Amino acid sequence: RIEAVLFDLDGVLTDTAHAHYLAWKTLADEIGAPFDEKANEALKGVDRMGSLDLMLKKAPRAYDAAERQALADRKNGYYQKLIEGYGPQDLFPGAREALEACKAAGLKTALVSASRNAATLVQRLGIAELFDHVVDAGTIRRGKPDPETYLSAAAALGIDPVHCAGIEDAQAGIAGLLAARMYAVGVGDPAVLSSADAVVGGIDGLRWPRILSL
Ligand code: G6P
Ligand code: MG
Repeated sequence: RIEAVLFDLDGVLTDTAHAHYLAWKTLADEIGAPFDEKANEALKGVDRMGSLDLMLKKAPRAYDAAERQALADRKNGYYQKLIEGYGPQDLFPGAREALEACKAAGLKTALVSASRNAATLVQRLGIAELFDHVVDAGTIRRGKPDPETYLSAAAALGIDPVHCAGIEDAQAGIAGLLAARMYAVGVGDPAVLSSADAVVGGIDGLRWPRILSL
């Protein structure tokens, strides 16, 4: 029985997965590192420095810690520029409805994003009040695919992990949910998210009665 639903943000509730990709792609082009949307799949859900390390794997040279910090800051600047004008119009169709359906059904909700921009973004999207808990990415020691993000949300909500479902567009996210022994719903391509318990094309494709009956 599901008692709480944990929502990823980027690529699930709004199209920022693409904005993250564009910001990384700009940086990768500047330093001459090959990078495309296929390579970007591995970065989805992964925190900023972890994503940078993945992107730099094919860079023409090595970067020391101070340089990597500067590169991460540069990417974040590009990303913040892209989300500057975000508002409720940037929610995916069905995103607000999905959150409201959870509340109406008496389920707890949490935001489980690895992004340090998540709190700002949910404010701009106008959905902040629909979450019982928002994980602070800055307090997570082991990011996705480690289960820590999800387990910390379950603990904050006071719900046993086995009674939680999570909605994720990233391979790292699905892996983290399964490691936390939660029901993993993938949003996106079933071929990319093959280990998920269920996959829907978009958040508007979620059949809430079905999730509630698990
Ligand atoms: C999410 C996105 C990742 C991003 C991470 C950190 O998990 O899916 O693509 O790298 O957040 O985001 P931040 O805004 O803190 O750089
Ligand atoms: Mg995501």
